[in-house]
Amino acid sequence: MRTIAVMNQKGGVGKTTTAVNVSAALAASGAKVALIDLDPQAHASLHFGVTFEAEFPSVYDVLVNDEPLSAVRRQIAENLWLIPAHLDLAAADFELASVFGREMILRDKIAADDMQFDYIIVDCPPSLGVLTLNALSAVEEVFIPLQPHFLALHGLSKLLQTVELVSKRLNPKLRVSGVVLCMFESRATLAKEVAGDVRAFFEKRGDDSTWSDAVVFETCIRRNVRLAEAPSFGQSIFDYDPRSNGAEDYGALVKEIVAMRPNGDA
Ligand SMILES: Nc1ncnc2c1ncn2[C@@H]1O[C@H](COP(=O)(O)OP(=O)(O)OP(=O)(O)O)[C@@H](O)[C@H]1O
Ligand SMILES: [Mg+2]
Repeated sequence: MRTIAVMNQKGGVGKTTTAVNVSAALAASGAKVALIDLDPQAHASLHFGVTFEAEFPSVYDVLVNDEPLSAVRRQIAENLWLIPAHLDLAAADFELASVFGREMILRDKIAADDMQFDYIIVDCPPSLGVLTLNALSAVEEVFIPLQPHFLALHGLSKLLQTVELVSKRLNPKLRVSGVVLCMFESRATLAKEVAGDVRAFFEKRGDDSTWSDAVVFETCIRRNVRLAEAPSFGQSIFDYDPRSNGAEDYGALVKEIVAMRPNGDA
């Protein structure tokens, strides 16, 4: 089983679009996939057409009310299960503030789960709070989506420090395994320059950090309006427009993901 958190505390960089479409493509290829929506905005849930129903249990009940994952997950396609989020997840930070071991709840729930998956993908919120810490404690791999504009690397050291700290204190298996360039403007010189900077930054390896084996994926996800439209139809890009650049790019990315060995030593 591979367990992957899609994380960047910066908002709007392509985390959810990546988590949703990578999950859909992996499931379509025959792998058994669980997508955990850990963002109170519930965008991954909405992307699959799962809307807010206050009475229906969500990942909030797993974290705060001790429900098992099996009580919450729903099958949304062949081989694909969603653990949905709800706006009330925004209160989890506060409600878990005095709970001992609050960063480890998701890890324990996954360990106690009765279903075996090939991939567990976690869509993180744009923050470094208790929800993201739960994701980082529960997985072995982190994928970082980056938007190649001039501030792309800004905030990255804070992100990497957080991963390093979680790895030291809570989860020694945690590694940054992949960096995905999203919303890529292939004709813009700046995007190419920044992509070069990002590759150079991650090639400064050789040390024993949690990101020394990180791969900057060859596939860049081009800016494609079909990717932005798909959520309003409750569909992945492969159902919404299988011939779009978005479907082509996420399809190619998933081939790279499948080909790499867990923990980044591709
Ligand atoms: N390659 C792309 N081309 C065009 N639009 C995109 C692309 N990737 C994502 N988008 C759109 O950009 C917006 C932000 O993307 P997304 O929701 O995936 O980012 P995020 O990092 O999950 O955001 P948040 O931090 O709010 O959770 C969305 O409206 C999405 O549909
Ligand atoms: Mg998101």
